[in-house]
Amino acid sequence: MARDQRDKYYWQAKVDGYRSRAAYKLIQINRKFNLIEDQDTIVDLGAAPGGWLEVGRELSKGKVVGVDIKRISPITGVDTIRGDITSDNTIQKIMDLVGNQGADVVICDAAPNLSGNWSLDHARSVNLATSALGCAKKILKPQGHFVVKVFQGDMFKDYLDGVRDSFTYTRAHSPKASRSESAEIYVVGKKFLTAPLKKNDEFEVHIKKIGKGGDGAIQIEGFMVFVKDVELGEIVRIKIADVKPNFAFANVVERISK
Ligand SMILES: C[S@@+](CC[C@H](N)C(=O)[O-])C[C@H]1O[C@@H](n2cnc3c(N)ncnc32)[C@H](O)[C@@H]1O
Repeated sequence: MARDQRDKYYWQAKVDGYRSRAAYKLIQINRKFNLIEDQDTIVDLGAAPGGWLEVGRELSKGKVVGVDIKRISPITGVDTIRGDITSDNTIQKIMDLVGNQGADVVICDAAPNLSGNWSLDHARSVNLATSALGCAKKILKPQGHFVVKVFQGDMFKDYLDGVRDSFTYTRAHSPKASRSESAEIYVVGKKFLTAPLKKNDEFEVHIKKIGKGGDGAIQIEGFMVFVKDVELGEIVRIKIADVKPNFAFANVVERISK
């Protein structure tokens, strides 16, 4: 590392025995958002040299899995996979290792090799972050959490909206340990949504029950949806307005029959 990049986190990592100064980014993100609990299964995508894995191992006694195209030198109690996170083959290996129960937290600090061309580096970073989100959606338990690094640029907002579709709570955050001149920002998604529907989905439904609050109460694939301004017996086309972890709200877009 160049001498002028050796900041206080670089030296702190030497003192605390972490493999990278990046360790403090995860410590700070976790402190702010309370993501990792004592028994959690954690999957770290783009994990080499392993600072985040060391922090994950300290925070949880559960399974910790690190994935990188580079070799990760062994860490006691951590499983590693050498592979490209954009490849289905690697995702399958992760799923085999994590097992049917799934992961509680998926974290991703993966970064492309920097070309110095801002928009190219941004596009490559969004590509990695998109693979990480795809992986998280396959392996996270319901209500699980996700953290991913993205280099900012014009595709960032669409990426953030994509994360928002799958999590109850989504924030973009820059921890103190990120260098002030860095383009990186971390997207945090909490409480993975496993509802069989998403915002703006439309359905034709028969209102057979009115809930205590006066809204129509229907089930879509076993998921409760409350529909505003309907009467018992109506058949209506609805549009999902908001999805919560265990239920959703919808509005009528067309009244079909009574
Ligand atoms: C900033 S480092 C991660 C540092 C790590 N969080 C730590 O605390 O030590 C980014 C890593 O992403 C990895 N990476 C980049 N593209 C990848 C890909 N397609 N698949 C797997 N790993 C990738 C790089 O090899 C690199 O080790």
